[in-house]
Amino acid sequence: MYTNMKGSTHVLAPSEIALKAIPDDDRVWVPQAPNVFFRPMFLNTLTGQWCNLLKVTRSGILSRHLHPAPVFGMVLKGKWHYFEHDWVAEEGSFVYEPPGEIHTLNVPEDCDEMITFFNISGCMVYLNEENKQIGYEDVFTKIDMCRAHYEKVGLGADYVDQFIR
Ligand SMILES: [Fe+2]
Repeated sequence: MYTNMKGSTHVLAPSEIALKAIPDDDRVWVPQAPNVFFRPMFLNTLTGQWCNLLKVTRSGILSRHLHPAPVFGMVLKGKWHYFEHDWVAEEGSFVYEPPGEIHTLNVPEDCDEMITFFNISGCMVYLNEENKQIGYEDVFTKIDMCRAHYEKVGLGADYVDQFIR
């Protein structure tokens, strides 16, 4: 058992994780913005890093943001692009986001849904058009979002504990 920075306690689960990445139960997907959901898989409180699937449905937008640390991704389904770049990440694409890179993720009109695996370190800093910070996410806010959602949908707040290390 340990207590995070915000005072919530967690039971440490066994060390290894092996799970079906795309869950059968849709309640496992945690809503984070309109048309944007994440599926936690590994929430690493020791180094402030997490692995999740990001699901964005048609025309969904992941708000303008940067990461102070590198991000690695692999597209499992669909396609997406950043408003700030010309390339399109499609099923099977590998993506690297360098530290400091500012981008806004969008799923185009001709794609119903994309699912991408992301390995993120540190945090996501959300920015407005003037590059002023308007919010952030880190492994602890992710855990808190999961706990609130899983409680609300009947899985129980402690459902997230299996992903926490
Ligand atoms: Fe990003």
